[in-house]
Amino acid sequence: MKPQELFVDQDIDSGLDIEPVSVTLGARVQGLDVGSDDSQETIDLLHELMLKHHLLVIPNQQLSALELEDFGRRWGELLTHPATKHRDTQYVQWIGSSEEGRQFKFFPGSHPAGGGWHSDMTWHSTPPKYTGLHARRLPSAGGDTIFSNQHKAYETLPPSLKDEIEDKKAFHTGKVFGPDVEDSIHPVVRTHDETGHKALYVNPNFTKYIVGMPSDESEILLFRIFSHFVRPEFTYRHKWNLDDLVLWDNRSVMHYAVADYGERRVMHRIVVQGNVPS
Ligand code: SIN
Repeated sequence: MKPQELFVDQDIDSGLDIEPVSVTLGARVQGLDVGSDDSQETIDLLHELMLKHHLLVIPNQQLSALELEDFGRRWGELLTHPATKHRDTQYVQWIGSSEEGRQFKFFPGSHPAGGGWHSDMTWHSTPPKYTGLHARRLPSAGGDTIFSNQHKAYETLPPSLKDEIEDKKAFHTGKVFGPDVEDSIHPVVRTHDETGHKALYVNPNFTKYIVGMPSDESEILLFRIFSHFVRPEFTYRHKWNLDDLVLWDNRSVMHYAVADYGERRVMHRIVVQGNVPS
């Protein structure tokens, strides 16, 4: 597969208002109502933009949970998450801080959902390629989500570190969500199955060790990777507005929900199944 250009500056001539949201990743798409526009052309355009920008911000989407689920299905087969206590439809998860969430400000003891750097459900054998979050209730300040471009992180690794991790695999656990949740082993460097671009695919939330290495060496290697991929140069910080719909490609980005709020914050989430990482 011939890799596409990763960092595209030009907008596609679509009639929609499309602009990058940061230097490193993401595009805002305005003038679209995903609840009423169900044309295949729109999905094809969004898919093309997703491959180029890795994350799409689609503001002002007044969507019910069912409409969000319908939109999600147009991207592929939907998955559920074992951590979800609340769901509004079979596949629309309700994630957020409850009233007790007030204790999360500066997290003494506990994190709201999504805290810590991760790509969604990397412990799954076919982790989701896309996640969509729809902002339903927001704190008066804080509660941003930070995204980091893992293609850029991989490309900027020192060559010796690239060589060191090239054929390595890592163990990811889902046991934090329950004793029956699966674990998986995936490559440390993942090749995006549509663009052919490589990305780092380990994260501090779910990756426990590098397979076949003594645990102290594995820890040091993971630490070197983690401390590289969080560099601010690779990131975009999304400040949510109510009714924002943000979709991202988990094969290309990691994210971190910032736990700096004490009021309620509620998101509707959909995840779209991917393939076995390779
Ligand atoms: C998640 O990790 O999927 C949730 C992110 C967020 O709530 O901002």
